[in-house]
Amino acid sequence: MSSTEVEAMAPPSAMAPSYIAARDVTKVFDVRGRDKVHAVDPIGLTVDKGEFVALLGPSGCGKSTLLSMIAGLTPATSGDVVVDGRAVTAPLTDLGFVFQKDLLLPWRDVLSNVLVQFEMRGQRTDRHRETALRLLHSVGLEGMERRLPHELSGGMRQRVAICRALVHDPPLLLLDEPLGALDALTRDQLRIDIQRIWSRDRKTAVLVTHDIEEAVFLAQRVIVMTPRPGRIHADIPIELPFPRRLEVKETPEFLGYVRTIRQQFEALGVIHED
Ligand SMILES: Nc1ncnc2c1ncn2[C@@H]1O[C@H](COP(=O)(O)OP(=O)(O)O)[C@@H](O)[C@H]1O
Ligand SMILES: [Mg+2]
Repeated sequence: MSSTEVEAMAPPSAMAPSYIAARDVTKVFDVRGRDKVHAVDPIGLTVDKGEFVALLGPSGCGKSTLLSMIAGLTPATSGDVVVDGRAVTAPLTDLGFVFQKDLLLPWRDVLSNVLVQFEMRGQRTDRHRETALRLLHSVGLEGMERRLPHELSGGMRQRVAICRALVHDPPLLLLDEPLGALDALTRDQLRIDIQRIWSRDRKTAVLVTHDIEEAVFLAQRVIVMTPRPGRIHADIPIELPFPRRLEVKETPEFLGYVRTIRQQFEALGVIHED
């Protein structure tokens, strides 16, 4: 077993402070000053540095809202979020965020879509060209640097979005259903790419998904959320060694995790067969 695999399985130190700590966080949206939508009920969540955690739950349960509160994009109604020892009171800048839509600028080529990360920060892009090219090549986009987004497949575009989220080397990566719009084969490929990038860089990663297999394949810990208003129903460590190849999905251990989680959703009334 390689040292990377051993590290991947080692439990985080009990003494180390959490990288992300959400304490009793809630979110109530005011809709046009009349209706109130309880999106997130009190949630306590901690994520260790370098950990890969999946937030798994049915559509509308508040996953994106929780991620957005971690990123400082949506203020919490109550409770607090601390990232890397600092209370989150404004949008974090030192993070990478990937959404379901790639949100590439259609008039810019691949390379300059990645480099926009630096322009937004008022930095010169020429210093970062090599880094951007290396990253694009590492996800199989060699030769695509000058293409426009509409000349790429959905999977390629999402890879560009992932490169844009990583090019400034942020310590934190937030992924909000990044593969939700892709076909099954492309999704498998990008899961492998994401796992490889995470294994290499060991950034703290939080993935939002409603796909049980995706959560079990990628994460070290799966947090199962209830239907809205979202609460944490279960917190399940996934003790499958890394690197995880696609074949792992056929192993009894993998299938056991998927079954356990499906049963949790059945108990919550999210899945029912009659
Ligand atoms: N800006 C908003 N204003 C009002 N309601 C919202 C807003 N954003 C999300 N919601 C509602 O909050 C709930 C949780 O949404 P969301 O976090 O997007 O769920 P998920 O990502 O799990 O699908 C949903 O009922 C949604 O309609
Ligand atoms: Mg969402």
